[in-house]
Amino acid sequence: MQRFTLPRDLFHGKGSLEALKTLKGKKAMICVGGGSMKRFGFLDRAEQYLKEAGMEVEIFSGIESDPSVETVMKGADAMLKFEPDWIVAIGGGSPIDAAKAMWIKYEYPDCTFEDMCKVFGIPELRRKAKFVAVSSTSGTATEVTAFSIITDYAKGIKYPIADFEITPDIAIVDPELAETMPKKLVAHTGMDALTHAVEAYVSTANCDYTDPLAIHAIEMIRDNLVNSYNEDMTARDAMHNAQCLAGMAFSNALLGIVHSMAHKTGAIFADYGAHIIHGAANAMYLPKVIAFNAKDETAKKRYGVIVDYLGLGGKDDDEKVANLIAFCRDLNDKLNIPHCIKNYGADSYPCEQGFVPEEVFLERLPEIAKNAIGDACTGSNPRQPSQEEMEKLLKCCYYDTEVDF
Ligand SMILES: NC(=O)c1ccc[n+]([C@@H]2O[C@H](COP(=O)([O-])OP(=O)(O)OC[C@H]3O[C@@H](n4cnc5c(N)ncnc54)[C@H](O)[C@@H]3O)[C@@H](O)[C@H]2O)c1
Ligand SMILES: [Zn+2]
Repeated sequence: MQRFTLPRDLFHGKGSLEALKTLKGKKAMICVGGGSMKRFGFLDRAEQYLKEAGMEVEIFSGIESDPSVETVMKGADAMLKFEPDWIVAIGGGSPIDAAKAMWIKYEYPDCTFEDMCKVFGIPELRRKAKFVAVSSTSGTATEVTAFSIITDYAKGIKYPIADFEITPDIAIVDPELAETMPKKLVAHTGMDALTHAVEAYVSTANCDYTDPLAIHAIEMIRDNLVNSYNEDMTARDAMHNAQCLAGMAFSNALLGIVHSMAHKTGAIFADYGAHIIHGAANAMYLPKVIAFNAKDETAKKRYGVIVDYLGLGGKDDDEKVANLIAFCRDLNDKLNIPHCIKNYGADSYPCEQGFVPEEVFLERLPEIAKNAIGDACTGSNPRQPSQEEMEKLLKCCYYDTEVDF
């Protein structure tokens, strides 16, 4: 038996933020990030709409990018004091993910972070509150997914919380919110969305319900991502839908080792001054993982199907896989994203020597590989890597060398 779960309601199109006016309840807590939603007026509008719905509103703000366990615990405390019956998370993947984890702790105050990380082990929610997610970036699709990614900074590791219990009740996909994104954010979140769709399509948990969502998302991303990056707002609006479709696919088909590696490399070099931003990590690792997974016959055929839909050509599946890899690399170039960690600057742009020193990478490699194998996303990857293979693959991601194993 397989399960396919999405939010009960999804409001999309310009102006759909107004759907907040239709909520029925007494108290809403808005969870928001560092200031972009306030700066562009969306926070005030959301607050106003909730008040029009007759609700008392409190705001929990300042949720940082790649949110920490500590922030989750602080937000849960605020919820326990205010006792909302609606949690309204607005912003990028970070504040929405943090709010999902706060929600668990609010409903079950004794639940520890370790408890939350047990895959598909969250107890029944909605005894105290329902959840609305309003996304302002076009990538994570956390407004429709069963995931939340929280970083344990003591360990330098991102942990995915995974359970359909945290799939929001209502998703609002209003493209107006995405129009204020700076170009770099468009690039990173867009490549995150592409990775979601490609990994979902070849995942061992793919099915007839997720395939069309993944394929349509990939086609829309091909048509719109670069134009969106170049400030074409019609393309920007289309990307907001495309990333959401990709999210519907991967929330139900799960992901693969591009994400396992991104989760385990994102914060591990923070002591050298920067993060490897999630979408940029995916963009660098995706071509390598396609080459690695294509050694699996079923995965190779499915990459071939993607290539046929995209019209990228190729006389057999081997050529098609090579064309898909070239397509992804070309996107990186057009979006100013490096091809490997060695060339990843602290500002995320390509450079000769990035912020992760070679010797530090090599010293931490066995641990990173072990953690990536243990990541929740590895189980649904079409090929299960050994410790040795994962280390080799990560080296290819550091040096941009060919994956021939
Ligand atoms: N839950 C999931 O299914 C899932 C999937 C993929 C990634 N993630 C996680 O999501 C996080 C990344 O989320 P993200 O990429 O959406 O970025 P983010 O939420 O971290 O935001 C990045 C920056 O962009 C700003 N910003 C957000 N929206 C803006 C807008 N419309 N205009 C101007 N500035 C804006 C924010 O203030 C912030 O400074 C990571 O922690 C990643 O691991 C979660
Ligand atoms: Zn992702």
